[in-house]
Amino acid sequence: MLFLDITREQLLPLMPKGGRCAEIGVASGAFSQKIRESVAPSRLHLIDPWVHQADTAYAADENNLAQAEQDARFRNVTAMFAPQVADGSVVIHRAFSADAARDIPDGSLTFVYIDGDHTTDVVRADLETYSRKIEDAGFILGHDYANHPGARAQNMGVIEAVNAFVMDTDFDFVFLTRETWPTYVLARPGNAHLASVMGALLMMSVKMTEVTGFPHTTRFSQSIVRLGDTVRVLPRFEPVAR
Ligand SMILES: C[S@@+](CC[C@H](N)C(=O)[O-])C[C@H]1O[C@@H](n2cnc3c(N)ncnc32)[C@H](O)[C@@H]1O
Repeated sequence: MLFLDITREQLLPLMPKGGRCAEIGVASGAFSQKIRESVAPSRLHLIDPWVHQADTAYAADENNLAQAEQDARFRNVTAMFAPQVADGSVVIHRAFSADAARDIPDGSLTFVYIDGDHTTDVVRADLETYSRKIEDAGFILGHDYANHPGARAQNMGVIEAVNAFVMDTDFDFVFLTRETWPTYVLARPGNAHLASVMGALLMMSVKMTEVTGFPHTTRFSQSIVRLGDTVRVLPRFEPVAR
């Protein structure tokens, strides 16, 4: 795995252009716009139920807004992407990811960006379901591979879900961005696009660190460091205790 000193916005343009992709968890559509601008997808599936979820493990998530605000977000996203919905390059699914999957053919996506319900069981289910949706040379990306106190307070379990998925399947953990809310990238071995992504990273002189045995024998965690008024989230890699 390569730990990349870039943001998710800088990572996006390295993904294959012009393909079909999906974003699970759209919220106000800010990152959906970045996906459109960066990779000009021929079709972008935007998946979000825009519903308040009161009695679930997701209840504490800061994006679990009241229903009136969810409705407002949905209206804004619909207005924002009206031209693309009309020409068929954007499809809005007001649905949970498990239900929207029925409308997306297997093997049809260049990449998926998983950023919906961040609890361990739902992320694991999204990984299982949407790994079948991507093409052989496709990528699984996802947000919030984080376990600092801000992530734990929202009951996020992305790290646990992704690690278990990688250890149980043939997917490799290829990249992780160095951010407070990191984005991970998974790919099947021999992915035909990986060489060009690596070439682009080298051309950009991106600072990167190779972490071997990840996540099988090396794990990631984040700790908080306070320097006066400044609070920093520090990434840490350490061997798995045997
Ligand atoms: C963190 S926000 C998404 C942020 C967005 N990807 C961005 O970067 O701007 C999470 C969103 O996931 C949605 N969500 C929650 N559970 C979901 C599920 N099971 N399937 C799809 N979306 C879900 C919520 O309604 C919320 O709008």
